[in-house]
Amino acid sequence: MGKGSGFGKVILFGEHFVVHGIPGIASAVDLTTDSTVKKIPGSELVVKDERKGTEGYSTSKREQQKESFQRMLTMMGIQSNVGLDIWLGGSLPTMSGIGASAASSVAIARAVSEEFGLNYDDDKINNVAYEMEKAFAGNPSGIDNTVAVYGGLIWFKRNVAGGKNDIEHIRIKQPVEIVMGNSMVVADTKAMVAGVAERAKQYPDKYQGIFKQYETLVQEARKALAAFDLVQVGKLMDDNHGLLQQIEVSCPELDQLIAIAKQNGALGAKVTGGGGGGCMVALTPGKDVQDKVADAMDAQGFKTLRTKIGVS
Ligand code: PMV
Repeated sequence: MGKGSGFGKVILFGEHFVVHGIPGIASAVDLTTDSTVKKIPGSELVVKDERKGTEGYSTSKREQQKESFQRMLTMMGIQSNVGLDIWLGGSLPTMSGIGASAASSVAIARAVSEEFGLNYDDDKINNVAYEMEKAFAGNPSGIDNTVAVYGGLIWFKRNVAGGKNDIEHIRIKQPVEIVMGNSMVVADTKAMVAGVAERAKQYPDKYQGIFKQYETLVQEARKALAAFDLVQVGKLMDDNHGLLQQIEVSCPELDQLIAIAKQNGALGAKVTGGGGGGCMVALTPGKDVQDKVADAMDAQGFKTLRTKIGVS
């Protein structure tokens, strides 16, 4: 039996913009999806998904998950009629925006590599997981699978021409508490990514203007993180959210969560991930602020995750 794991992630800056080759910043969270894979007689892929999370998430992603398995088998040179028993579990909940699909792709690819004695290193696993992510995101940037494989806090710039992406680790003084608020709306990242691309084509001047503003913002964010200026990081997260609203990837539930976060002391708050539902992230340094923000969200019936960024 082969085993594997992948980290969950939070995008602090740049979801959607990263798809278009502008840098993003993301951090692993200290939660993983774990997988075991075992060859079985016959030609069926038997999937036992024991991950906990948003109701309806796993069912709604089933077809995309099947496609991702086929992409993985092709890429790893394994016959598509092989019988596999695939188990999924771990501490990372299934919700849109936390990188659940990438974490599961990485976990499964690692488990398959072990079960078939392929000895894939992290770079190879990352390439396979990127191929699998196409089933979930259509035209993924690669930021999710990169963080799911390597962990840490990462500066990521996609090479849109298809070459090597620019991936750099960012170090911060100490881990910082965040709250991830789940809107409880299951979102389709593929549709959200395609929607932004369509509108960018339809309104090129507007979108080029927004992309330019974001590009300046993310450079400032990198400096603020390196200087551990959390007030400035929070302000830039708010500004990033304003741009995400302009490209139409927020939704009323996410805006409500962001308002709750700000009212309860978060330094900054924004959509994280594909948007249109899924999660938002609030920067809440210190356990007291983190609890205050998360408790306020819980009290309104949302689900929350209290975790940290910058954990090595
Ligand atoms: O919704 P998630 O957690 O899969 O995040 C998607 C992030 C996007 O920038 C929207 C897509 C991508 O591939 O970068």
